[in-house]
Amino acid sequence: TGVLVLNGPNLGRLGTREPDVYGHATHDDLVALVAAAAERLGLDPEVRQSDDEADIVRWLHEAVDTRRHVVINPAAFTHYSYALRDAAALVSGAGLVLVEVHISNPHGREAFRRHSVVSPVATGVIAGFGLDGYRLALDAVARHAA
Ligand code: DQA
Repeated sequence: TGVLVLNGPNLGRLGTREPDVYGHATHDDLVALVAAAAERLGLDPEVRQSDDEADIVRWLHEAVDTRRHVVINPAAFTHYSYALRDAAALVSGAGLVLVEVHISNPHGREAFRRHSVVSPVATGVIAGFGLDGYRLALDAVARHAA
């Protein structure tokens, strides 16, 4: 079972970016964590990160075309990108699992983070458990993938 793990803007800076909020682990650490969890679950993952909305939209189309489930941390795009939301809707609409992940709990932070334009079209949402959220999301994919 293939899974695309997509990380949005500024997540390439994990480790040095607001460590009080996002912790000290780097994006490379995240890639290693995903590889280990996916192996245990029998999933075939690919992790990508981009600061560019167009990349993420294209990768969501690719997930549909290659029938891969999606774990996505849309980062700040979560809160305002209708293009990303519409592309995410194509994934869940195709019967693929799409898990929205946030490292922090956006509901306990600034007001603008409380709204996600992606959540209505996600299969489910995991937030507030740090990088562990990716492990939980892969577990959800393994359990819910048709
Ligand atoms: C985030 C939360 C977003 O509000 C923020 O813009 C991010 C990261 C998280 O993982 O907690 O970049 O998605």
